[in-house]
Amino acid sequence: MAVANGIVTIDGPSGAGKSTVSQQLAARLGYTYLDTGAMYRAVGLKVIRSGIEPQEGPPLERLLADLDLTLAPGVNETRVLLDGEDVSRAIRTAEMGMVASRVSALPPVRRTLTALQQKLGQQGRVVAEGRDMGTVVFPDAPYKFYLDASPEERARRRHEQLLEKGLPSDYQEILAQIIKRDHDDSARSLAPLKPAADAVIIDSSQVDAEGVVSLMLKHINAS
Ligand code: DC
Repeated sequence: MAVANGIVTIDGPSGAGKSTVSQQLAARLGYTYLDTGAMYRAVGLKVIRSGIEPQEGPPLERLLADLDLTLAPGVNETRVLLDGEDVSRAIRTAEMGMVASRVSALPPVRRTLTALQQKLGQQGRVVAEGRDMGTVVFPDAPYKFYLDASPEERARRRHEQLLEKGLPSDYQEILAQIIKRDHDDSARSLAPLKPAADAVIIDSSQVDAEGVVSLMLKHINAS
C-alpha cells in the first residue's frame, strides 16, 4: 500500500459511519485504528463518576492528571480501559455521547487528549477517527477524509441499528440529539468540527461503508 508510515485521518459528525469505515480501512491497510471519540467518552464517564462539575478548575486538572486510559483496538470495536476497568460498554450509550461532547469543549480535556493521541500516532500506520484529527491533532497527515451525511439519514441509520438490536428507539429524539451534537461540536471555539482545508469530503448518504472504503483506498493508491 502507498501509505508508508502514514496517518490517515477520518473526521465528521456523529453517525456518519466513521467507526465502521475507519475499522475497515485500518484492516485493509494493516494499520491500527485510533478511536478518539472513545477517549472523550471515557473522560466524560470519569467526570460523571467522580461527581465533579464538568468545568475548568483544579478538580478537573486533578482528574486529568490521574487519568489512566488504555485503548486496545479489536476486530469489531476498541476496548477501552479506564483506571484498569473495561468501560467499553458503559461509554457507548447516547447519554455518554452527549457528556463526551460537553467535556470535549473544555480546554484542559482537549489539551490532555490531543497530547495522548499524538503520542499514540507517533509510530505512524494509524487510521485516526474523530472531529479534529485532520485539523488539529495530525495536521501533516498525508491522507485526510471528512465523512458526512444528512442529519436525517444519520438518525435513520441509528434508529434502525437500535431496533435491530431490540432496543427502544425514537427517531425524532435521535434526530434532535444528532442536530444538537452537530451544533455543539461545530460551534465550540476549540478544535471545532470542520473539514481540514486539504481533506477529501465524502458524502456517505448514498454509499455503504464498503463503498466508502473503496473510494478512500482508490484515493490513497492514486496519490
Ligand atoms: O465519535 P463519538 O460519537 O464517539 O464522539 C463523542 C464526542 O466526543 C463527540 O460528540 C465530540 C467529542 N469528540 C471530539 O470533540 N473530538 C474528537 N476527536 C472525537 C470526539
